[in-house]
Amino acid sequence: MQYDKVNWQNQEKTKINSFVNDFIIKEIILKKKGSNVKIFDIGFGIGFFLWMLEKNLPKSFKDITLEGCEPSYKNYKYFKQKPFDFKKIKLRTFNNTFLETKTEVKFDFLTAVYVFPHFEFDELEETAEKINGMLNGNGKFILVVANEKYLKEKLKAKKDLFIEENTIKFNGKDHQEILHYSEVPQIGTIIDYNREEKFYVELFKEKGFNLESKIDLDDSGFICTVFVFGKN
Ligand SMILES: C[S@@+](CC[C@H](N)C(=O)[O-])C[C@H]1O[C@@H](n2cnc3c(N)ncnc32)[C@H](O)[C@@H]1O
Repeated sequence: MQYDKVNWQNQEKTKINSFVNDFIIKEIILKKKGSNVKIFDIGFGIGFFLWMLEKNLPKSFKDITLEGCEPSYKNYKYFKQKPFDFKKIKLRTFNNTFLETKTEVKFDFLTAVYVFPHFEFDELEETAEKINGMLNGNGKFILVVANEKYLKEKLKAKKDLFIEENTIKFNGKDHQEILHYSEVPQIGTIIDYNREEKFYVELFKEKGFNLESKIDLDDSGFICTVFVFGKN
């Protein structure tokens, strides 16, 4: 597990991903109507997004359920050692990969912030089916990955980050998949799969979703893409 070897706990200092997390909370989650909300965060790392939810949701919702999974024991343990407001929020966490995680709850939102680049191509269909099964009828899946064009430019400029390129076949169409290093400031170097945007749109369409919106966000020069998929 590559995350046992990097210092993801330094996210508490660098606040990396807080910009995109903030966008997801304010522009998507807080727009949900009603007094209850149920969210599952896939690959929660040290729980940075869960803490942001803990801080922001109780102002808008009375009945809050948060669940999430994180396979790195180092990250998982770091989150579990910190205080959390169990009076306001029902929390359940799993020290497992997403496909190993078992929960009966149906969620309003599932989120995956920079986690899909770690999934192997051959687990993506099962992953998308599982996400569909865990969402309620109006549920949404929020997927965040590095922006395709931004990453291509970066790999052109820094050739030593490139590892290999593959063609992945889905529904009779070919898509490009690039394996590369990502240098995360003050955290370490990780290995990611970057797949074409059109592949993710195709995958989730096939598994019963439609693409509701796709937003590019510039966080101090790093550009990501946020996909919001709703169930059909
Ligand atoms: C780039 S980090 C992002 C962490 C967190 N989502 C955030 O935004 O701070 C990717 C995380 O995905 C987790 N991960 C890797 N493979 C996974 C899998 N199969 N299921 C769930 N999480 C996974 C890693 O352990 C790591 O914590």
